[in-house]
Parts: sequence; C-alpha cells; structure tokens
Amino acid sequence: MRITMRPLIAGNWKMHGVGSRLNQIEDIAASVGASRPEADVLLCVPATLIFRAARAAAGQIAIGGEDCAMEAEGAFTGDVSADMLKDAGASAVIVGHSERREHHGETDAVVAAKARSALRSGLLAIVCIGESEAQRRDGKTMVVCGEQLAGSLPEIPDGGELAVAYEPLWAIGSGHIPTAADVIAVHAHARSCLVLRFGDEGRAMRILYGGSVKAENAQSILDLADVGGVLIGGASLSAADFDAVLRAVPR
Ligand code: 13P
Repeated sequence: MRITMRPLIAGNWKMHGVGSRLNQIEDIAASVGASRPEADVLLCVPATLIFRAARAAAGQIAIGGEDCAMEAEGAFTGDVSADMLKDAGASAVIVGHSERREHHGETDAVVAAKARSALRSGLLAIVCIGESEAQRRDGKTMVVCGEQLAGSLPEIPDGGELAVAYEPLWAIGSGHIPTAADVIAVHAHARSCLVLRFGDEGRAMRILYGGSVKAENAQSILDLADVGGVLIGGASLSAADFDAVLRAVPR
C-alpha cells in the first residue's frame, strides 16, 4: 500500500540536551516556519526540557516526551505521567523505545500500558518495535515485530492517535540501515497486523522508520511504500542536520 498521508518527521533527543541546546529548537522552528515542509515535525526531548522546548518551538513544530509512566498519578517517585508531559507542553510521547526495553526491562505489556496512558491523556503515542541483529540473522524479524505489535499496542479510545516506529536495533546509531526491500517487507507486515487489529484505523496509522536516518538517506526511505515518516536520533540534535533531513521530504 502506498502511503499518501503527510509524513511525520520526528526527532528523539534521548538523554541529550540542557537549556543551552534550546537554540537548536528555535532554529529548527524558524526554518520550519520559513520553508513549510510538507510534513508534520515533532521533536521528542528529555522531560526537563519540554516546557522550555514548547516555548522555543513557537507553535511551528510539535514537542514530545521520550517515555511516560503507566499510571496516571500516584506514589511512583521519579516517574513522569503522560498528563504531566501534556501539561508541560507535549503533544506526543515515544513509548517502548528499544533502549527502554533493553535497559529498563520494559515488556510488551508495560509498553502497552504506557501507550494506553498516553492516549488517555490525549498524546500521540509512538510505539517502537524492532528486531535485534541476532533475531534478524535467525530469520525471526517478522515474528518478533508481529509479536511486539500484538503485545505493545493498546485499544485506541475515540480520537486517540497511535503511530508505530520500526527501529531495527542494529540500525540505531550504527550508520547501517536495512535494504529498501527489507524496510518495505517489515512495514507491509506491520501494516497488515494493524489492519487486522484495527480495521480502517489501522490503514491510516503512520508507520515510521528509525535507525541511522540522515539527510543522505532520508528521501529514499520516505519514498518507500508504507513509510509514513521517520524517527531520528543523532541527526535531530543539531538544527543543521535536522533541517537537512527536512529538506529531503518529498514535495
Ligand atoms: P539514530 O538516528 O541515532 O540511529 O537513532 C535512532 C533512534 O533510536 C530514534 O529513536
């Protein structure tokens, strides 16, 4: 299926950035305001920056969080709820990033609970899936991604917006990306899982690709069938690199 929806170009700053980096967001916002790319633009930043990032974005780009708690509120010292992210100025949140699955032991059930919480708070939930290098070598990519989708996606309340990000673990920060045929195959598989589960809503959901997306490869990735946008780590940290990706958006 060919995606004709407006692509989502999303950045993930991970655990990078203090207040002195906000000028990068101001620059990205200014350039998006001037060039009006045919894409929705989102920067997901550390929770400590969301309030100031939303101000720096000046309504030109959306700001999101990188994780949220499963619960709405309560005695969970150190956790940040989806409502808190929203209150600070976020309109989206990434859940189930492989770095959280790996370093914090987040299971599919935990990721689904976090996504549910995000949707309840009115945030776009971007749910990450992706296989490890060993799983790909063993021919398990489709099974792993299918299982992650089945386990990590919550029911969608009325008006809730969900997106999936396919991020092969071995492509993150490595400079290696899958072949076009591999991206197309996984996205097609994810699409059929989404349609099976959600019907027409599943047809309209964006499936982003993430993992070593840069200016040089962004256009060819965005051109692929069923790629509804990209999730960018390292190249989202500087306004110059992120702008270069934005310029690659097909017009
Ligand atoms: P890189 O773009 O640095 O490979 O990171 C991808 C990623 O993990 C985005 O969530």
